[in-house]
Amino acid sequence: MTAPDRQRWSAISQAFHWLIVALILVMAYLGLTMVDLPDTPHKIFFYMLHKSTGMTILVLGVLRLAWRLYAGRPAVLSGIPRWQAHLATLTHGALYVLLFALPLSGWLLNSSTGFPLRWFNLVNLPPLASRSDALHEVVRPLHEALFWALVVLALAHAAAAIYHHLFQRDDTLVRMLPRGWLRAPSAQAQTEHPHA
Ligand code: HEM
Ligand code: HEM
Repeated sequence: MTAPDRQRWSAISQAFHWLIVALILVMAYLGLTMVDLPDTPHKIFFYMLHKSTGMTILVLGVLRLAWRLYAGRPAVLSGIPRWQAHLATLTHGALYVLLFALPLSGWLLNSSTGFPLRWFNLVNLPPLASRSDALHEVVRPLHEALFWALVVLALAHAAAAIYHHLFQRDDTLVRMLPRGWLRAPSAQAQTEHPHA
Protein backbone atom coordinates (compact mmCIF):
# COMPACT_ATOMS: atom_id res chain seq x y z
CA MET A 1 0.00 0.00 0.00
CA THR A 2 1.21 3.51 -0.65
CA ALA A 3 1.68 5.28 2.66
CA PRO A 4 1.81 9.09 2.71
CA ASP A 5 5.12 9.03 4.59
CA ARG A 6 7.28 5.92 4.44
CA GLN A 7 9.67 7.24 7.06
CA ARG A 8 7.20 7.46 9.97
CA TRP A 9 4.62 5.21 11.60
CA SER A 10 1.15 6.38 10.57
CA ALA A 11 -1.15 8.05 13.12
CA ILE A 12 -3.26 4.88 13.18
CA SER A 13 -0.24 2.64 13.92
CA GLN A 14 0.85 5.05 16.64
CA ALA A 15 -2.63 5.15 18.17
CA PHE A 16 -2.78 1.34 18.28
CA HIS A 17 0.70 1.12 19.78
CA TRP A 18 0.23 3.63 22.61
CA LEU A 19 -3.39 2.77 23.40
CA ILE A 20 -2.44 -0.89 23.83
CA VAL A 21 0.61 0.05 25.96
CA ALA A 22 -1.65 2.14 28.24
CA LEU A 23 -4.26 -0.64 28.52
CA ILE A 24 -1.57 -3.22 29.33
CA LEU A 25 -0.34 -1.00 32.18
CA VAL A 26 -3.91 -0.84 33.52
CA MET A 27 -4.14 -4.65 33.15
CA ALA A 28 -0.91 -5.20 35.05
CA TYR A 29 -2.16 -3.01 37.91
CA LEU A 30 -5.56 -4.73 38.04
CA GLY A 31 -4.12 -8.25 37.67
CA LEU A 32 -1.44 -7.84 40.33
CA THR A 33 -3.73 -6.19 42.91
CA MET A 34 -7.09 -7.95 42.41
CA VAL A 35 -5.97 -11.48 43.34
CA ASP A 36 -5.22 -10.56 46.98
CA LEU A 37 -8.26 -8.36 47.59
CA PRO A 38 -10.73 -9.46 50.27
CA ASP A 39 -13.95 -11.01 48.91
CA THR A 40 -16.06 -7.88 48.47
CA PRO A 41 -18.04 -6.39 45.54
CA HIS A 42 -14.91 -4.28 44.92
CA LYS A 43 -12.98 -7.44 44.08
CA ILE A 44 -15.69 -8.64 41.70
CA PHE A 45 -15.63 -5.22 40.05
CA PHE A 46 -11.82 -5.37 39.61
CA TYR A 47 -12.07 -8.85 38.07
CA MET A 48 -14.81 -7.63 35.73
CA LEU A 49 -12.65 -4.66 34.68
CA HIS A 50 -9.60 -6.92 34.20
CA LYS A 51 -11.46 -9.45 32.09
CA SER A 52 -13.34 -6.84 30.03
CA THR A 53 -10.27 -4.69 29.36
CA GLY A 54 -8.32 -7.85 28.47
CA MET A 55 -10.95 -8.88 25.92
CA THR A 56 -10.82 -5.34 24.52
CA ILE A 57 -7.06 -5.73 24.08
CA LEU A 58 -7.67 -8.97 22.18
CA VAL A 59 -9.97 -7.18 19.72
CA LEU A 60 -7.57 -4.22 19.42
CA GLY A 61 -4.74 -6.69 18.79
CA VAL A 62 -6.64 -8.30 15.90
CA LEU A 63 -7.45 -4.88 14.39
CA ARG A 64 -3.85 -3.76 14.88
CA LEU A 65 -2.40 -6.82 13.19
CA ALA A 66 -4.86 -6.46 10.30
CA TRP A 67 -3.85 -2.80 9.90
CA ARG A 68 -0.16 -3.73 10.08
CA LEU A 69 -0.55 -6.38 7.36
CA TYR A 70 -2.48 -3.93 5.18
CA ALA A 71 -0.45 -0.74 5.74
CA GLY A 72 3.02 -2.23 6.22
CA ARG A 73 5.77 -0.52 8.19
CA PRO A 74 8.10 2.39 7.50
CA ALA A 75 11.46 1.63 5.94
CA VAL A 76 14.22 0.48 8.29
CA LEU A 77 16.26 3.56 9.19
CA SER A 78 19.52 3.82 7.35
CA GLY A 79 22.55 3.11 9.50
CA ILE A 80 20.84 0.37 11.54
CA PRO A 81 22.94 -2.80 11.37
CA ARG A 82 21.19 -5.83 9.87
CA TRP A 83 21.44 -7.89 13.06
CA GLN A 84 19.68 -5.12 15.01
CA ALA A 85 16.89 -4.92 12.45
CA HIS A 86 16.49 -8.72 12.62
CA LEU A 87 16.46 -8.68 16.42
CA ALA A 88 13.83 -5.92 16.42
CA THR A 89 11.64 -7.90 13.99
CA LEU A 90 11.97 -10.97 16.19
CA THR A 91 11.07 -8.99 19.33
CA HIS A 92 8.09 -7.33 17.64
CA GLY A 93 6.86 -10.74 16.44
CA ALA A 94 7.13 -12.14 19.98
CA LEU A 95 5.30 -9.09 21.37
CA TYR A 96 2.46 -9.70 18.90
CA VAL A 97 2.30 -13.38 19.93
CA LEU A 98 2.04 -12.35 23.60
CA LEU A 99 -0.58 -9.75 22.75
CA PHE A 100 -2.82 -12.63 21.67
CA ALA A 101 -1.60 -15.35 24.03
CA LEU A 102 -2.23 -13.29 27.17
CA PRO A 103 -5.91 -12.50 26.67
CA LEU A 104 -6.59 -15.96 25.18
CA SER A 105 -4.99 -17.66 28.20
CA GLY A 106 -7.00 -15.33 30.47
CA TRP A 107 -10.19 -16.26 28.63
CA LEU A 108 -9.34 -19.96 28.99
CA LEU A 109 -8.44 -19.45 32.66
CA ASN A 110 -11.77 -17.79 33.34
CA SER A 111 -13.58 -20.57 31.46
CA SER A 112 -11.86 -23.20 33.62
CA THR A 113 -13.24 -21.55 36.78
CA GLY A 114 -16.80 -21.65 35.46
CA PHE A 115 -17.30 -17.93 36.21
CA PRO A 116 -19.37 -16.02 33.64
CA LEU A 117 -17.66 -13.58 31.28
CA ARG A 118 -19.71 -10.44 30.73
CA TRP A 119 -17.91 -7.70 28.83
CA PHE A 120 -18.32 -4.58 31.03
CA ASN A 121 -21.50 -6.20 32.39
CA LEU A 122 -23.07 -5.65 28.97
CA VAL A 123 -22.40 -8.58 26.65
CA ASN A 124 -22.17 -12.27 27.55
CA LEU A 125 -19.16 -13.97 25.99
CA PRO A 126 -19.01 -17.77 25.67
CA PRO A 127 -16.48 -19.90 27.59
CA LEU A 128 -13.62 -21.44 25.59
CA ALA A 129 -13.83 -24.70 27.57
CA SER A 130 -16.00 -26.19 30.27
CA ARG A 131 -15.24 -25.81 33.98
CA SER A 132 -12.25 -27.93 34.98
CA ASP A 133 -9.91 -27.89 37.98
CA ALA A 134 -7.23 -29.74 35.99
CA LEU A 135 -7.31 -27.11 33.25
CA HIS A 136 -7.30 -24.34 35.86
CA GLU A 137 -4.14 -25.72 37.41
CA VAL A 138 -2.34 -25.54 34.08
CA VAL A 139 -3.69 -22.25 32.75
CA ARG A 140 -3.41 -20.16 35.91
CA PRO A 141 0.42 -20.35 36.10
CA LEU A 142 0.56 -20.12 32.30
CA HIS A 143 -1.33 -16.79 32.32
CA GLU A 144 1.03 -15.46 34.97
CA ALA A 145 4.17 -16.73 33.16
CA LEU A 146 3.02 -15.15 29.89
CA PHE A 147 2.55 -11.88 31.74
CA TRP A 148 6.11 -11.91 33.11
CA ALA A 149 7.45 -12.82 29.69
CA LEU A 150 5.66 -9.76 28.33
CA VAL A 151 7.14 -7.59 31.10
CA VAL A 152 10.70 -8.73 30.30
CA LEU A 153 10.30 -8.38 26.55
CA ALA A 154 8.49 -5.02 26.69
CA LEU A 155 11.14 -3.60 29.04
CA ALA A 156 13.95 -4.73 26.72
CA HIS A 157 12.00 -3.31 23.76
CA ALA A 158 11.42 0.05 25.49
CA ALA A 159 15.07 0.19 26.60
CA ALA A 160 16.16 -0.40 22.99
CA ALA A 161 13.90 2.44 21.78
CA ILE A 162 15.30 4.83 24.42
CA TYR A 163 18.87 3.70 23.69
CA HIS A 164 18.34 4.50 20.00
CA HIS A 165 17.06 7.95 20.90
CA LEU A 166 19.70 8.91 23.46
CA PHE A 167 22.82 7.16 22.25
CA GLN A 168 22.40 6.15 18.60
CA ARG A 169 20.65 9.49 18.11
CA ASP A 170 18.37 8.20 15.37
CA ASP A 171 14.63 8.64 14.75
CA THR A 172 13.43 5.21 15.95
CA LEU A 173 11.42 6.65 18.86
CA VAL A 174 10.51 9.98 17.25
CA ARG A 175 8.72 8.28 14.37
CA MET A 176 6.51 6.26 16.73
CA LEU A 177 5.26 9.53 18.30
CA PRO A 178 3.10 12.34 16.88
CA ARG A 179 5.09 15.02 15.07
CA GLY A 180 6.59 17.57 17.43
CA TRP A 181 6.17 15.54 20.64
CA LEU A 182 9.84 14.69 20.81
CA ARG A 183 12.67 16.53 19.13
CA ALA A 184 14.50 14.42 16.56
CA PRO A 185 18.12 13.90 17.67
CA SER A 186 19.15 14.40 14.03
CA ALA A 187 17.45 17.87 13.95
CA GLN A 188 19.10 18.73 17.29
CA ALA A 189 22.52 17.89 15.88
CA GLN A 190 21.85 20.24 12.95
CA THR A 191 20.95 23.16 15.25
CA GLU A 192 23.96 22.57 17.45
CA HIS A 193 26.27 22.44 14.42
CA PRO A 194 24.59 24.58 11.75
CA HIS A 195 27.59 24.37 9.44
CA ALA A 196 28.33 20.71 9.96
C1 HEM B 1 -3.26 -8.31 27.91
C2 HEM B 1 -4.12 -8.97 28.64
C3 HEM B 1 -3.90 -9.44 30.06
C4 HEM B 1 -2.91 -9.18 30.96
C5 HEM B 1 -1.67 -8.32 30.79
C6 HEM B 1 -3.23 -9.91 32.18
C7 HEM B 1 -2.47 -9.92 33.34
C8 HEM B 1 -2.79 -10.61 34.50
C9 HEM B 1 -2.00 -10.64 35.69
C10 HEM B 1 -0.68 -9.89 35.90
C11 HEM B 1 -2.64 -11.41 36.60
C12 HEM B 1 -2.20 -11.77 38.02
C13 HEM B 1 -1.51 -13.09 38.00
C14 HEM B 1 -1.26 -13.63 39.36
O1 HEM B 1 -0.62 -12.95 40.17
O2 HEM B 1 -1.73 -14.75 39.61
C15 HEM B 1 -3.85 -11.90 35.99
C16 HEM B 1 -4.79 -12.72 36.60
C17 HEM B 1 -5.99 -13.08 36.04
N1 HEM B 1 -6.42 -12.80 34.76
FE1 HEM B 1 -5.42 -11.70 33.39
N2 HEM B 1 -4.43 -10.57 32.00
C18 HEM B 1 -4.86 -10.31 30.72
C19 HEM B 1 -6.05 -10.74 30.13
C20 HEM B 1 -7.04 -11.46 30.79
C21 HEM B 1 -8.32 -11.83 30.21
C22 HEM B 1 -8.81 -11.45 28.81
C23 HEM B 1 -8.99 -12.55 31.15
C24 HEM B 1 -10.37 -13.19 31.12
C25 HEM B 1 -11.25 -13.06 30.16
C26 HEM B 1 -8.12 -12.64 32.32
C27 HEM B 1 -8.45 -13.30 33.48
C28 HEM B 1 -7.67 -13.35 34.60
C29 HEM B 1 -8.08 -14.00 35.84
C30 HEM B 1 -9.43 -14.72 36.07
C31 HEM B 1 -7.01 -13.83 36.73
C32 HEM B 1 -6.96 -14.22 38.21
C33 HEM B 1 -6.47 -15.56 38.48
C34 HEM B 1 -6.70 -15.87 39.94
O3 HEM B 1 -7.66 -15.38 40.54
O4 HEM B 1 -5.92 -16.61 40.44
N3 HEM B 1 -6.94 -11.96 32.07
N4 HEM B 1 -3.93 -11.40 34.70
C1 HEM C 1 3.44 -3.23 26.67
C2 HEM C 1 4.38 -2.56 26.09
C3 HEM C 1 4.68 -2.58 24.60
C4 HEM C 1 4.30 -3.43 23.60
C5 HEM C 1 3.41 -4.67 23.72
C6 HEM C 1 4.89 -2.95 22.37
C7 HEM C 1 4.73 -3.55 21.12
C8 HEM C 1 5.31 -3.12 19.95
C9 HEM C 1 5.22 -3.79 18.67
C10 HEM C 1 4.47 -5.11 18.45
C11 HEM C 1 5.89 -3.05 17.76
C12 HEM C 1 6.07 -3.39 16.30
C13 HEM C 1 5.08 -2.65 15.49
C14 HEM C 1 4.76 -3.35 14.19
O1 HEM C 1 5.66 -3.87 13.52
O2 HEM C 1 3.55 -3.38 13.87
C15 HEM C 1 6.42 -1.89 18.44
C16 HEM C 1 7.15 -0.88 17.85
C17 HEM C 1 7.75 0.15 18.55
N1 HEM C 1 7.66 0.37 19.92
FE1 HEM C 1 6.65 -0.71 21.26
N2 HEM C 1 5.61 -1.81 22.63
C18 HEM C 1 5.52 -1.55 23.98
C19 HEM C 1 6.09 -0.51 24.69
C20 HEM C 1 6.89 0.45 24.13
C21 HEM C 1 7.54 1.53 24.85
C22 HEM C 1 7.37 1.79 26.36
C23 HEM C 1 8.26 2.26 23.93
C24 HEM C 1 9.12 3.47 24.12
C25 HEM C 1 9.83 3.76 25.16
C26 HEM C 1 8.06 1.63 22.64
C27 HEM C 1 8.60 2.07 21.44
C28 HEM C 1 8.42 1.50 20.21
C29 HEM C 1 8.98 2.03 18.98
C30 HEM C 1 9.88 3.24 18.87
C31 HEM C 1 8.59 1.17 17.95
C32 HEM C 1 8.96 1.28 16.45
C33 HEM C 1 10.19 0.47 16.22
C34 HEM C 1 10.67 0.57 14.78
O3 HEM C 1 10.45 1.57 14.10
O4 HEM C 1 11.31 -0.40 14.34
N3 HEM C 1 7.24 0.53 22.80
N4 HEM C 1 6.06 -1.96 19.77
